[in-house]
Amino acid sequence: MCGIIGIITVPGAFNEPLGSIIKKCLKNLEYRGYDSVGFAILGDIFVVRKSKGKIDDVAFGLGFDKYDGFVGIGHTRWATHGPPVDKNAHPHTDCLGRVAVVHNGVLENYLELKEILRRKGHVFKSDTDTEVIPHLIEEFKKRGFQPYEAFKKAISVLRGAYAVVVIDLDEPNKLFFARNTSPLIIGIGENAIFLASDIPAFLEYTNKVIVLEDGELGYVTSRGILIEKLLKPGELDDELAMTEIVDYKSRIKVLDWTPEMAKKGGYPHFMLKEIHEQPGALAATIAGLKEEIDGIVDALLKSDKIIFVAAGTSYHASLLGALYMNNLAEKWSMAFISSEARWWMSNIGEEDIVIAVSQSGETIDTLVAVREAKRNGAKVLAVSNIIDSAIPRESDFVVYTKAGPEIGVAATKTFTTQVAVLLYLSLKVAERIGNKRIIEEIKNDLAKVPELASSVLSRYEARIKSLSRILKKKTNAFYLGRGFGVPIAMEGALKMKEIAYIHAEAYPAGESKHGPIALVEKDFPVVFTSIGEEEELLQSNIEEMRARGAWIITIARKGSRLFSISDEKFEMPNANEYVMPILSILPLQMLAYYTAVARGYDPDKPRNLAKTVTVI
Ligand code: M6R
Repeated sequence: MCGIIGIITVPGAFNEPLGSIIKKCLKNLEYRGYDSVGFAILGDIFVVRKSKGKIDDVAFGLGFDKYDGFVGIGHTRWATHGPPVDKNAHPHTDCLGRVAVVHNGVLENYLELKEILRRKGHVFKSDTDTEVIPHLIEEFKKRGFQPYEAFKKAISVLRGAYAVVVIDLDEPNKLFFARNTSPLIIGIGENAIFLASDIPAFLEYTNKVIVLEDGELGYVTSRGILIEKLLKPGELDDELAMTEIVDYKSRIKVLDWTPEMAKKGGYPHFMLKEIHEQPGALAATIAGLKEEIDGIVDALLKSDKIIFVAAGTSYHASLLGALYMNNLAEKWSMAFISSEARWWMSNIGEEDIVIAVSQSGETIDTLVAVREAKRNGAKVLAVSNIIDSAIPRESDFVVYTKAGPEIGVAATKTFTTQVAVLLYLSLKVAERIGNKRIIEEIKNDLAKVPELASSVLSRYEARIKSLSRILKKKTNAFYLGRGFGVPIAMEGALKMKEIAYIHAEAYPAGESKHGPIALVEKDFPVVFTSIGEEEELLQSNIEEMRARGAWIITIARKGSRLFSISDEKFEMPNANEYVMPILSILPLQMLAYYTAVARGYDPDKPRNLAKTVTVI
């Protein structure tokens, strides 16, 4: 998906040309996937350069490093409107080449705007939706608007999703910006201000951020920031855009993220680094929880139903959350895929709590479900890894996982930390309703989970690597479990699908004989995830699969009877069954990672996927 960087500096802010800094920031966004690269820099001259290709090649070919200036923008494009060719790369400019624009998102009304602008004599050079933006700014300036007013007016007529950053030579000491649905963040450095689609882009230069909200627009100078709120959509008339100034001071946050966290640190891929960061991420998350929980526990206790809404991996964490709430906290609870949640909301009301789980905090499906829940009067608790992102902002309560930046598209450390948060919350509710003995046991094991995770990771990595050499030749796999093992089977299968492109399906093991087993033949891989007490039931499921020649990989607790009927065995430490899911997913994350690598794929950049999904 596209990446944006914008930088405005005081003279001499960096001891290398601005072109090199833009290249570095774009490299930090490389994980998002892209097909073309471009930049615009204003110094002694104004240059706009762009091309299809990879950042290093394009930067070398176009000589990024030799261009210096005090204001610049850069972009990595992931083609949506028009093929990945030079003319469609960003920045896009107006007819006179005085306005340069980079954009993420999709404009819904670009065809109609393009037609109107064409009739007014504007000449378009690309197939993109983005190109209407510089022409709109040019058009409003022609009509007599001052440059910033022309920018605001242009933004007001756009419909759809956008994060936009603009250089206008008629107001060269400002970088204009706007956000709707697509994330955009301001980074406040000592001698420079940054705008980026993602924090890691500028983390090397600053960890002081303001996360922009939908409908906000404004400009940054080398020393200052103006943020305004667009009050209503505009028309193509001559009225100024209606905005009001936003007081953003209290929104400035200093993150505890370091630049090293957003680098590979010697690992071949971010995903592998992030898998190995889980012990630390779990420890930080659990330690951080103590401060923020009491009010939330009160609300959960008072609630009638607890409904989870989430997508993908966060949905799998939510399934565990719902099981924990039902079984530990004794609350009626259920998890819904957020894009489906609207069909389940009619009986949710003021007495209920909706827990929205989203590592990015920006997933539009989950945000829509949150809004629907709020309309029905429910209170919303967000569980997210990104401070001040859209879902936490719109929720009544927030708990942050402290996983640090997760760059790999496949969620790993954000999943295990989400599960830890949901278990902790359930424990806190359970504590208030009694049942002390089991709670103490779970609490002790949760406290030990970073250490246990570390032992699982180091014990099995080499074995999994060699197993991936067999798995890489397979085209299908089943992942089966029962109870707490079902979400783990689902998450393991999702990982395998999304990065190794093996068709992996997860089912509750009891369901396999109602259809899926028809597919099983000799050497068909079936992964069993056993958490504890369901062992006896799983035993017969394994036997059924073995009888058909399946190749059985089992993840179970130490001493499990299932190992004697399995081909490959991963023995988990003896932790309480509520804690076990956090450990059982680790071999499956590694299995997907090493299988993807063995098949020659880059696990950090799975095809067709984005880290943050802001389209419905
Ligand atoms: O940012 P979110 O947690 O809301 O993202 C939800 C899903 O898009 C995400 O988990 C996706 O399934 C990942 N690719 C999983 O690895």
